[in-house]
Order: sequence, then structure tokens, then C-alpha cells
Amino acid sequence: MKVVICPTAERATALTARVIEQALRQKPDIALGLATGRTMEAVYAHLVQAHQNSGLDFAACRTFNLDEYVGIAPDSAHSYRTYMNAHLFSRVNIALEATHVPDGAATDLDARCVAYEQAIRASGGVGLQLLGLGENGHIGFNEPFSAFTSRTRVVTLDPATRRQNVGMFDGDLEQVPYHAVTMGVGTILDAHRNVMVVTGAAKASMLARVIEGAMSACISATALQMHADCLVIVDEAAAGAL
Ligand code: GLP
Repeated sequence: MKVVICPTAERATALTARVIEQALRQKPDIALGLATGRTMEAVYAHLVQAHQNSGLDFAACRTFNLDEYVGIAPDSAHSYRTYMNAHLFSRVNIALEATHVPDGAATDLDARCVAYEQAIRASGGVGLQLLGLGENGHIGFNEPFSAFTSRTRVVTLDPATRRQNVGMFDGDLEQVPYHAVTMGVGTILDAHRNVMVVTGAAKASMLARVIEGAMSACISATALQMHADCLVIVDEAAAGAL
């Protein structure tokens, strides 16, 4: 793992966007693995700016999102598909057919998970996977005790994760689904590069365990310690316990 500490969250998210921008300029048809959450909103805002101001071209790339809530239709205001359309896809020149977000409302979810893995493989594999960090150490929705070999599948959300994400559901915990579809830890480890961005003091003690602690399925993100090309970009607040 390489760790870069930036003075502010703004600088950390700007640098993250810059890393993605460089990867896209080097390989315009790259398959990008994308993430959601509050931290990523600023990353996507910077990418939109790069598209508008310096012609960053998304026309040839493909994207695969990490996860989606089960039971939430793609066109629902609360879906990660809607989040991605709003923050990135509708604001850059990417063909919607080239964007993949698991469909959490599909009836044949297990088959869809297998198909998602196949689609990633058919694209040549994820070239660069963007990751956030959950307060319980999850990546994607790989909650504590997810196997390091896990693949895209349906998971049960940790109560802490449901609370952490209540903001996307108008603050109403009852609306937050109990299940999600997520790429597995093994799927994430298959990406050629992983770039994790973590900001804010609330994640400082977990970040220290992810980077300096023992590798353990209790904290899914520690699996990244064995990835050959993992960049962790953090702000000073998140780096506070390192
Ligand atoms: C959700 C997503 C994760 C993301 C996490 C952190 O749980 N499934 O992929 O990393 O949120 O989100 P935030 O940036 O809002 O703290």
C-alpha cells in the first residue's frame, strides 16, 4: 500500500480525481470500477470539471459500480444508479450502455451476480477500482467477516452500515434496506489498481487498523494490504491515528 496524506479533504478528493483522469488519458477504453458515498461526490465533481474544462473524454471507457441496495429499483431516488447518473454519468460523455451498476430490484439476483462477474471479465478486468471506506472497515458492502475470496453476491448489511447510510434515505432508518449486492473482496483484489480515498476524523481509527493492523476478515479493507498496486489517499483528519 502507498499512502498519500493531503492537508484537506478537498485536496484528497482532487488528487483522487487526478489519478483517475491520468488513467483514463493513458487508456481511454479502461474499465473503471466506481464507488458511491458522500466522499465520492467531490471526486466526481472534479472529474466533471476536467471533462468540461480540459476535454477529459469518457466516450470509450466502461464502468462497473461496486454495489447497490437490494429492493431499490434503478430509477428510485435512493438507488446508487440514480446517484451515479446524477453525479457523473449524465454530466460527462459516457454512453449509458457502457455503465454497469448492479440492479438491486432484479428477481434473479444470484444469476445477475454471476453475470456481473462475467461482464467484468469480458471487459478485460477492472483497470482502476475506486474505493471508499466504511466506518466498520468495509469496502463495497463487504461487511466484517466477508471472505477475501468472495465474489459479487447478495449480502446482509451491518446495523452500523445501515445507520451510516441513513442520509441517503432522508434520515429514515426504516427505509434503509437490509440487503445489498456487492462485488466481493476477491473481485476487488482482481482489479489491476485500487485507489482508496478516506477523509474525516470519524474514520481515523479504522484507517489505522486497515493500514497498520493485522490482515483479517474482521476488517475487509485489510485485504488490500496484499494487493500489488493499492494507493490510499487520505486527508490529515483521517490520518490522525497513523
Ligand atoms: C457505502 C458504500 C461504500 C462507501 C461507504 C462510505 O457504504 N457502499 O462503498 O465506501 O458508503 O461512504 P461515505 O463516503 O459516505 O463515508
